[in-house]
Amino acid sequence: MSMTDTDLTLRHPELGTGPVSTDVYWKPEFYERELRAIFRQGWLCIGREEQIPEPGDFFTKEIPTFRLSVIAARGKDGVVRAFHNVCQHRGAGVELREKGHCKVFTCPFHGWSYNLEGELTGVPDQKAFYDLQRDKKGLPRVATDTWEGFVFINLNPEPAQSLAAYLGDLGSGLEGFGPFHRETTAFEYEARIQVNWKLMLDSFTEIYHVPVLHKRSVAASICGPKNPYGRVIDVLPKYPHRMATLAGNPEYRPFPVQGLAYGLSAGPSVTSGGSGSTEDLPVGVNPTRDPLWTLDLNVFFPNMIVIVGPGMYFTHTMWPTHAGETIWQMHGHLPPAANAAQRFAQENAMVELRDAVMEDVNTLERIQNAISQGLCDEFVFHDHELTLRYQHYTVLKWVEDFEKRLDAGR
Ligand code: FES
Ligand SMILES: [Fe+2]
Repeated sequence: MSMTDTDLTLRHPELGTGPVSTDVYWKPEFYERELRAIFRQGWLCIGREEQIPEPGDFFTKEIPTFRLSVIAARGKDGVVRAFHNVCQHRGAGVELREKGHCKVFTCPFHGWSYNLEGELTGVPDQKAFYDLQRDKKGLPRVATDTWEGFVFINLNPEPAQSLAAYLGDLGSGLEGFGPFHRETTAFEYEARIQVNWKLMLDSFTEIYHVPVLHKRSVAASICGPKNPYGRVIDVLPKYPHRMATLAGNPEYRPFPVQGLAYGLSAGPSVTSGGSGSTEDLPVGVNPTRDPLWTLDLNVFFPNMIVIVGPGMYFTHTMWPTHAGETIWQMHGHLPPAANAAQRFAQENAMVELRDAVMEDVNTLERIQNAISQGLCDEFVFHDHELTLRYQHYTVLKWVEDFEKRLDAGR
């Protein structure tokens, strides 16, 4: 498969080739259906296991989509569990710190305490309660599982599928990828953006815009004379997930400061334009074994993109707050810097990435304004915008299938 081949879309006749309605990107009624069918049923990533390496370690995670707070804690048995951060006395938030280490969580309101397994273990002046059944008053459990160090939750207490089954081939193909298993330095960015969550995902999963929108930043590392329009190597739909695999520009020459940073780096940078060895990679990384490969964009339905490249990965996660607003979070992971020079190289990588994302975001809020006023009621997708066409298809199919199952169960 060469990067100049086309007709990726025709390989998936169920997707069609026509324009798609923009209604699903702004209508509040559809957004409510998405929350019920997708965000209440799908597995959602809330962090990484290395945030809580030892028994007693915990972090809290706000889920802005539902204004929920979740505690993830590693128990004495080493198992990661998650709970709603809601005291069963009168509903207060039990743990207000973002992370820490403890034996029990003590509610700051009246001091009820819960162990790492979420059981209610302490009630001040308990004898003045009537018939308090402590064993029924634990913190509400949230379905939790881990995959390659990523901590996932499911807001359905009885998920329809295990995490492994849900992640399917996309998950199993990435298992064993080295950077998931290294001690790494984490960095993160977050922003509240006036755009639908799906448009935010779309902006990170097509490359057609790269030579134009990112001409002053990352364009040259991907698009060169051999690939002027930013075509992808391939797009692999893996319902409900999807992935796109990308080639780098082998002729890329970094700017002077970039060159210095890359030379000092303890590891690869996302904008280095280089392609990596195809050896020792799991089957799902550089799946076509293209020698020009530089990055894969793995989209875990519904809201996370795991971007993997030679020796590194980073993630984007989108948390919708309403039909036209999303909280975007980017988490990156770099090898620990051994000295100040490597630290400089890492700072360079982080700001390069941040600046490229800001270029994306600048276009998005105008798109949201336009579609929600009926000024662009259809999107027409290029063959290499197949990941976008596929998202439109999967979201509609997932919502409709879920509603059919609900109706059948009534
Ligand atoms: S609400 Fe938590 S102890 Fe009262
Ligand atoms: Fe972009």
